[in-house]
Amino acid sequence: MKVLGLVGSYRKNGNTDILLKKVLDGVKSEHIDSRYIFLDDYDIKDCIGCEGCKNTYKCVINDDMQQLYPLLMEADAIVLGSPTYFYNVTGKVKNFLNRLYCYEIFDEHDRSIWMSLNEVVGVKYAVTVAVCEQDNEEDMGFTSLTMSKTLEALGYRIIANIKALNAFSKGSILQQKQQLENAAQIGVKLAKTLKLRNNIKNTYKML
Ligand SMILES: Cc1cc2nc3c(=O)[nH]c(=O)nc-3n(C[C@H](O)[C@H](O)[C@H](O)COP(=O)(O)O)c2cc1C
Repeated sequence: MKVLGLVGSYRKNGNTDILLKKVLDGVKSEHIDSRYIFLDDYDIKDCIGCEGCKNTYKCVINDDMQQLYPLLMEADAIVLGSPTYFYNVTGKVKNFLNRLYCYEIFDEHDRSIWMSLNEVVGVKYAVTVAVCEQDNEEDMGFTSLTMSKTLEALGYRIIANIKALNAFSKGSILQQKQQLENAAQIGVKLAKTLKLRNNIKNTYKML
């Protein structure tokens, strides 16, 4: 069982990075494998709507996203984090999410009939982490929603949407002890969710 953590901020050791790593600490404390990715280390172009993925469910754009697709496929769960940039996710996170369009499959004649590849290979789990500087959740805008709605459409069940307010300067989230503890607890919850699924799978096999 593996959890993939993906940070979509441009600041290494920034607030999103710190908070997301806390979630992964919680995951690791339950002895579940995790892998950490800082998305800005990867060249990820936006989806161009070419429909080159239509019949193969594989994106034809040759950039660093090709390294991430196999990791996403083998992960049972992901933790995706973004700071708020003008009421929404960063451009990096949006490019990343848009490039998952290859996993959304539509009926050839009726596009209101669709499903995600994960629905076919097995539902996955996700935690989102959103961070903004204002202390009013409204000023976070769509940051959390953009991630959660997209991941839901892609066949991820959302375990928690972490929303951290009031964090502007790099690392200032470290002052929010309760929020850091909350993030670690959510990591534990995610790990326990994966264990529960595994136990059910094993029991069902024996029946
Ligand atoms: C381009 C830009 C736009 C931002 N827009 C918002 C915003 O709409 N609302 C808000 O509360 N904070 C906004 N912020 C503040 C960041 O969300 C905040 O500093 C956050 O802690 C950065 O996270 P990081 O350290 O993970 O990069 C913005 C920052 C930048 C650079």
